[in-house]
Amino acid sequence: MGKIKVAVVGVGNCFAGLYQGLEYYRHHEITEAAGLMHPVLGGYTLDDIEFVAAFDVSEEKVGKNLVEATYAHPNEVRWIKKEEMPKSEVIVQESPILDGLGIYILERVKPIKNKPKDVLDKQIKEQIKNSGARIILSYLPVGSADATRYWAQMAIDTNCAFVNCIPEFIASDEKWAQKFTDAKLPILGDDIKAQVGSTIVHRTLARLVDERGALIESTYQINVGGNTDFLNMKEQSRLKSKRISKTESVQSQLKKRLPDDQIYVGPSDFIPFLSNTKLGFMRIEGKMWADVPFNMEIRLEVDDKANSGGISVDAIRCAQIALDRGLAGYIEGPSAYFMKHPPVQHSDPVARQMVEDFISQAK
Ligand SMILES: NC(=O)c1ccc[n+]([C@@H]2O[C@H](COP(=O)([O-])OP(=O)(O)OC[C@H]3O[C@@H](n4cnc5c(N)ncnc54)[C@H](O)[C@@H]3O)[C@@H](O)[C@H]2O)c1
Repeated sequence: MGKIKVAVVGVGNCFAGLYQGLEYYRHHEITEAAGLMHPVLGGYTLDDIEFVAAFDVSEEKVGKNLVEATYAHPNEVRWIKKEEMPKSEVIVQESPILDGLGIYILERVKPIKNKPKDVLDKQIKEQIKNSGARIILSYLPVGSADATRYWAQMAIDTNCAFVNCIPEFIASDEKWAQKFTDAKLPILGDDIKAQVGSTIVHRTLARLVDERGALIESTYQINVGGNTDFLNMKEQSRLKSKRISKTESVQSQLKKRLPDDQIYVGPSDFIPFLSNTKLGFMRIEGKMWADVPFNMEIRLEVDDKANSGGISVDAIRCAQIALDRGLAGYIEGPSAYFMKHPPVQHSDPVARQMVEDFISQAK
């Protein structure tokens, strides 16, 4: 089996968590270290994942070596000392800015001056081809509607699979999924469902209540954090698809949908000193036997970036398996288990089994 060659778009905190996490596992006995669903997935180990190209729009990242860029401002992941990361030959390249940078982010990120579109298009195609990348991993900021579509099309034009970690609907959009089918390329998406994040916890509890015959009357989930992802999400106009993705992820687990005004799921604020710590607050209210009321409250405290890396490491390997097997269009099981807004929603136990079946067919 060959290496898994990945081009990353958006060298931000999520990528830093994935990259440093992979390095962490290189120095720890895999069987003893926590955090992995699959030490080996379909024959692929963590060491098989290689980042061969990277694209960003920040002056502090473009033109830098991938290790330097991963530690550049405003990234905050520091699990491994920069000096201890193995050298990378990859230089971060220019991506079109389009709608990637929101108003609050522009206070922190100085954007590069983009080359003309036709020059940039040609340059990116050559860079991806020369790198040998077969997977494009998108970690663009929330609200990057045009930039996501640019990179989804770029995946098709450069014969790459696309792993869409952000809440823009590509795998779950019929027309885009069809484009990937026509191009004979796989797509996994949309919007990564964190390892132990608010979405999986909220979905699981909502389903539990439902299955036990109790009735949910209202529920909310609010999240706060202190990184650029949360800062960006202060801009309400960038949040439309994020809210849909997060809300539908919970609604999809209920036998009967809640009225829209009885469910609120959303990122809610930016608290600078929280850095990559994310706090999630959830409440479920309802009635059980004999219409007697109940409620529950959950407070979740997690590192947002560990949460993303623990899932994208498997999404990448499933994308590679899909390429190996010549699969095209959306990849149903892995999308359902790894993403909040897949083309088809399943319960998490069912989606998990679908992933295992998908992997075992690859062996
Ligand atoms: N648990 C999680 O962390 C989690 C879960 C689900 C989804 N996500 C999503 O993953 C995405 C990445 O999150 P993050 O914390 O790394 O964000 P981040 O702000 O740290 O990183 C985003 C990166 O994208 C770059 N960028 C902006 N516009 C660009 C463009 N046009 N082309 C290329 N690069 C561009 C920025 O310069 C930055 O380096 C977000 O959309 C986030 O909502 C994260």
